[in-house]
Amino acid sequence: MDEYVVIGNPIAHSKSPEIHAQFAAQTGQSLHYERLLAPLHGFTVAVQVFRRRGGRGANVTVPFKLEAHALADQLTERARLAGAVNTLKFEGGRILGDNTDGAGLVTDIMVNAGQALAGRRVLLLGAGGASRGALLPLLQQRPAQLVIVNRTQSRADELAQQFAEYGPITSAAYAELGGVFDVIINATSASLSDDLPPLPVSVYGGETLAYDMMYGRQPTVFMQSAQQHGASVRDGLGMLVEQAAEAFQLWRGVRPATAEVFASLRQQLSQ
Ligand code: ATR
Repeated sequence: MDEYVVIGNPIAHSKSPEIHAQFAAQTGQSLHYERLLAPLHGFTVAVQVFRRRGGRGANVTVPFKLEAHALADQLTERARLAGAVNTLKFEGGRILGDNTDGAGLVTDIMVNAGQALAGRRVLLLGAGGASRGALLPLLQQRPAQLVIVNRTQSRADELAQQFAEYGPITSAAYAELGGVFDVIINATSASLSDDLPPLPVSVYGGETLAYDMMYGRQPTVFMQSAQQHGASVRDGLGMLVEQAAEAFQLWRGVRPATAEVFASLRQQLSQ
């Protein structure tokens, strides 16, 4: 059977084996997918051992996405620009590195939440890896404007400069944000510590979708605040499932359906 893993440290919490098992059953693909805990300084060795054992591909999670980027022999454009890799495909002697996180986000917003991005005002919060991975897929949807803000503004300025050739991106400071945005995406890690990025409430309107890349049993503080100011909200569970579907397609050449997998994960979360 073809073998796949998700590599990280820690890894016990990962839902990827369950997601890919459901995709495999649904598409009739014969594969086995499990968790692989790599030592903090042992990512490359763990990948090489798995490859020698006949492994076909891997998902990569915290804290190894930058090392996976360095390890790949060939990168997709979106992985190159993200500077990070979450999906490896072993092809003969070569390692292909891709990043499916941003595509997962865009699919979840457009297909599952039914919110268009073309011609819209989009605001991206944060300038770390999560943000960087989202920029090219977001700009490829041709928003009217993509504004990136970050607590440390210089990081947002750098990203805006780097991605300027791909679409209408500008950086700003939180305090100087003006006008309502159609889509606001929280790519900061603030929700992990129940913090709220310092957004002026004037960014929210009745048609705004406020999207948090994080997910959990309860809505994040960002989602709660956005909802109080009239926005509709969505967490990152759909992004998780859609980035997995994108990886599955890269490995297997088949696109799995995601709705049932999403529903079962949501139900588990609420238990
Ligand atoms: P990741 O790779 O997961 O994005 P990261 O590189 O550590 O992680 O980036 C975390 C992002 O969340 C950064 O943009 C960070 O802002 P700084 O660049 O100023 O550190 C942002 N962030 C973290 N905590 C935050 C908070 N409480 N309010 C606003 N932004 C926060």
